[in-house]
Amino acid sequence: MSEQYEKIKSELQAKPRKWLVTGAAGFIGSNLVETLLRLNQNVVGLDNFATGHQHNLDQVEQLVGAESWQRFHFIEGDIRNLEDCRSAVDGVDYVLHQAALGSVPRSINDPITTNQANIDGFLNMLVAARDAEVKSFTYAASSSTYGDHPALPKVEENIGSPLSPYAVTKYVNELYAGVFARTYGFKTIGLRYFNIFGRRQDPEGAYAAVIPKWAASMINGDDVFINGDGETSRDFCYIENAVQANILAATATDDAARDQVYNVAVSGRTTLNQLFSFLKEALATSGAVYTKDPVYRDFRAGDVRHSQADISKASSLLGYQPAYNISQGIDEAMPWYVESLK
Ligand SMILES: NC(=O)c1ccc[n+]([C@@H]2O[C@H](COP(=O)([O-])OP(=O)(O)OC[C@H]3O[C@@H](n4cnc5c(N)ncnc54)[C@H](O)[C@@H]3O)[C@@H](O)[C@H]2O)c1
Repeated sequence: MSEQYEKIKSELQAKPRKWLVTGAAGFIGSNLVETLLRLNQNVVGLDNFATGHQHNLDQVEQLVGAESWQRFHFIEGDIRNLEDCRSAVDGVDYVLHQAALGSVPRSINDPITTNQANIDGFLNMLVAARDAEVKSFTYAASSSTYGDHPALPKVEENIGSPLSPYAVTKYVNELYAGVFARTYGFKTIGLRYFNIFGRRQDPEGAYAAVIPKWAASMINGDDVFINGDGETSRDFCYIENAVQANILAATATDDAARDQVYNVAVSGRTTLNQLFSFLKEALATSGAVYTKDPVYRDFRAGDVRHSQADISKASSLLGYQPAYNISQGIDEAMPWYVESLK
């Protein structure tokens, strides 16, 4: 348990602040909104529904209740439009910038649209937040920034060459963030997420992430496809850990903790073959049985082979302590998958 996280949560509850969550209708954004509303905070959400959904917001409303929902203000807008960004940051204390087009394959198929949302949109948000003099700006970076660097576990300062347009965009975010600190004194925090999973992660479409996609396939009795030999590994990180990292980063007061990027993960390493077994077992405890073997197919372009994070930097500078390992996360997420994906 992170003592710092518990302390910050009590402080926030005692003295509510105003937060902006961009990408609020998406997976990570909607989970941030949910936690912040439960903590009695005032929250502005910005989203253009490019990949997010109204039903995610509806679910949060249902979970937090009508009274808390009154502290949420939603703006349907686009981060590619500077005026939308300026309206969204108005009067805000803390910005959690999540809006972007995720997915490596999407960026390979359409690098221009990914670039516009992830780089132009990011720059707009930085400018708007800097001009509004917000207290802090925390943004979603990505483990894809490690690119082809072979070292494991991944340590923040050692990155390789990007393997996809998406990875370029996330690296450019970090470069702009550094430049804003050096040229304007606007210090931000980047969180390099490693395969975050949990409730409200979209299982649909060609660009779905592996856990919701496989969970949906298993629940519906469809084939599960493994790209490559199944020995590709990832540091799967449950959403509650990512939420914790965001709140700790946003409220960090130590100057040494700002103008930094941090790995957000568990520091575990799970192969796709192991993940298949975990999901199958968790589904069985929910009363459903999946009997098929996985179907192996070609490796996917742009994917890194292995990914595992060193999380000591986030632990020492932010007080981050992941409360869930992959199994605990899957156990907590599975009932949601079963309820929502059948
Ligand atoms: N999920 C992961 O494992 C993971 C890993 C690394 C980085 N990230 C990053 O975390 C952030 C959130 O990802 P997610 O998994 O919740 O994805 P998501 O697709 O569920 O959420 C992204 C949200 O941003 C919104 N959005 C996209 N373009 C926009 C625009 N131009 N204007 C306004 N809103 C826009 C989408 O509609 C969506 O609601 C992204 O920046 C993503 O790159 C996620």
